[in-house]
Amino acid sequence: MNATRTALKSGDDVEPEVRIRRLHRRDLNRTWEFLKQVFREVNRTTVEYQRPRSKKRFLEVYEEKGIEQLLFVVSGSGKEQIVGYAECALAILGTDNWMNERYFRMRDMRPLFVEELAVHPDFQGRGLGSFVLDQLEHLARLRGCTHLVLEVAENNNHALKFYRTRSFYKLDAAVFLAKKVVNDAELLPPRPLSKRGATAVVEPVAPVVLPTDDPQAATQTTSKARPSTKAPRPKRTSAAGTRKAKTDTKP
Ligand SMILES: CC(C)(COP(=O)(O)OP(=O)(O)OC[C@H]1O[C@@H](n2cnc3c(N)ncnc32)[C@H](O)[C@@H]1OP(=O)(O)O)[C@@H](O)C(=O)NCCC(=O)NCCS
Repeated sequence: MNATRTALKSGDDVEPEVRIRRLHRRDLNRTWEFLKQVFREVNRTTVEYQRPRSKKRFLEVYEEKGIEQLLFVVSGSGKEQIVGYAECALAILGTDNWMNERYFRMRDMRPLFVEELAVHPDFQGRGLGSFVLDQLEHLARLRGCTHLVLEVAENNNHALKFYRTRSFYKLDAAVFLAKKVVNDAELLPPRPLSKRGATAVVEPVAPVVLPTDDPQAATQTTSKARPSTKAPRPKRTSAAGTRKAKTDTKP
């Protein structure tokens, strides 16, 4: 593919020109460092770990067939800087992927899966993300795809707004739910120490009465134990026992 160029919106005096090229093996380490930097903040706030998960996985992706990895670079003083990265594929990749291909087939959708879209923090808000997206949409059209499909964390507000203002809509997807489990702390609260030599004040510790089906055992804890005011619980009849009894009445 011929290198494509675009000029960024004026942020400072210079307007760097961004060029697109394919990722090469020699770029892997640099690109990994770039991705770590871009996702550092995002990964701090999202429940689902945003890609890239590990360098090992990133290196494996490079070897996989059917994946396109594009670098967006600016050049100056003989040096090239990575300012953007995009990764996409026509098929769902990896064995741990949660996507259901049938969902798309049944809706006559031929998606281009956008696995990664990243812009260097210093270059965000200058039109580079839009350029990356334009490039992906251009590829989608060339490959006969009908949609760009991607995953973004619901609380990655900046990215979500970015996609929504560019006509992306929500597909049916998992929503992470949580419920607080009320429980006592496993560790005792802090306790002030007495001065060395002073007589330590020992707080009386209330005895623990364990719940039990046997009323006699409950009173056998210690002589200081508080007598249980609870009536002994009746012996439980298991569901299996009930079933068995019914079966036995059959002729
Ligand atoms: C989401 C992301 C790709 C957008 O890239 P970008 O280069 O900032 O995109 P653009 O400059 O084309 O557009 C950014 C929008 O934010 C606005 N913006 C304003 N100030 C901004 C700032 N300081 N930083 C970022 N965006 C800003 C822009 O005006 C633009 O608004 P618009 O949507 O109304 O056009 C980029 O923020 C990013 O890489 N984020 C971290 C990684 C990530 O979350 N990726 C997506 C995971 S799926």
